[in-house]
Amino acid sequence: MGKTILVTGGAGFIGANFVKMILRDRPDDRVVNLDVLTYSGNLENLADVESDPRYSFVHGDVTDAKLVLDLASDCDAIVHMAAESHVDRSILDPRPFVVANTLGTQSVLEAARRREGGPCRVVYVSTDEVYGALKLDEPDSLFTEDLPLAPNSPYASSKAAGDLMCRAYHETFGLDVCITRCSNNHGPYQFPEKVIPLFVTNLLEGKKVPLYGDGKYVRDWLHVDDHCEAVLTVLENGRPGEVYNIGGNNERSNLELTHSILGLMGKDESSIEHVTDRPGHDRRYAIDATKIKTELGWAPTRSAWPDALERTVRWYLDNEDWWKRVRSGAYREYYEKQYANR
Ligand code: NAD
Ligand code: TYD
Repeated sequence: MGKTILVTGGAGFIGANFVKMILRDRPDDRVVNLDVLTYSGNLENLADVESDPRYSFVHGDVTDAKLVLDLASDCDAIVHMAAESHVDRSILDPRPFVVANTLGTQSVLEAARRREGGPCRVVYVSTDEVYGALKLDEPDSLFTEDLPLAPNSPYASSKAAGDLMCRAYHETFGLDVCITRCSNNHGPYQFPEKVIPLFVTNLLEGKKVPLYGDGKYVRDWLHVDDHCEAVLTVLENGRPGEVYNIGGNNERSNLELTHSILGLMGKDESSIEHVTDRPGHDRRYAIDATKIKTELGWAPTRSAWPDALERTVRWYLDNEDWWKRVRSGAYREYYEKQYANR
């Protein structure tokens, strides 16, 4: 017998890739996708699975405790991905981050605890940004699961609050919660505010790419399919109460990344616009993913550089309709057309 998995935030970048992975790789499982469709939620991302009888979409907010409780009662596990996800937006306006990421996580945990039929497992998709920043001059230092949390941006702090609430529900109520902390993802359907799709689509529109500060910031890039597979592995085999880091062992500076993108797109340095740095910009993220590898046997298989970046750039080149509709805002009409009268 398959399971029914409640995925929150399934219309976003990672969520849509995850929902499709379950439907493809777990033919007995069903997915309920709860998403409020913020600016980054796009049902077009799921157009090819929306008629699958194993998939259903619920338009709603994770902070709606009653709704989440009702949905949880009909599901066997929850993968909680719904979040406000962009650091720059959290600097402009932190409050929606506190509401969605902190309060929203508490309502998911409470629903898992109180659901009809007894408590169910929750996987909380956290982020490596909860650890804060590593130093450039200490290249051997890595994030390990036992480090204290030291988030710097309002985004990271709101995710850390959700992360700690998961710990509290496990320690206090014995809830079966696993936490994953992943590095920067790239791949299809990423909203073009994040650096890779922003730079690629800017270049395709003949614009420059805005590189923050000195560009010597380092991120550990992972293909979204590897992340989704890791989350599925933790959902199925993770130990209750444990935290699992997920990373690609693939550190690149923003300068290096930008030059790779320029090279792949036949552009040069003149397309870079050096702009004012992001306040509180974390210098370096780098993951030690030994635990998930040794305990659960997961390792990245689709993130080898530069091939993985090349595939991602190619996806945006091949899916001009998708990103043009996203950049123009036209994708917002899809819900009205496809769902409003159902
Ligand atoms: P995204 O912004 O593309 O998607 C977020 C989704 O959540 C959207 O569909 C949005 O509509 C939905 N959502 C937001 N608030 C909601 C609410 N209150 N109720 C219901 N739905 C809501 O983000 P993403 O990049 O796909 O990130 C997904 C998760 O993965 C987030 O929790 C994020 O913190 C985490 N994460 C992301 C990365 C990354 O590199 N993108 C890395 C590590 C962890
Ligand atoms: P981003 O994609 O926003 O992810 P995060 O902040 O969660 O790591 O940014 C990745 C890196 O790229 C980060 O160091 C900030 C930098 N960046 C730029 O230089 N220019 C940009 O326009 C953006 C959006 C990001």
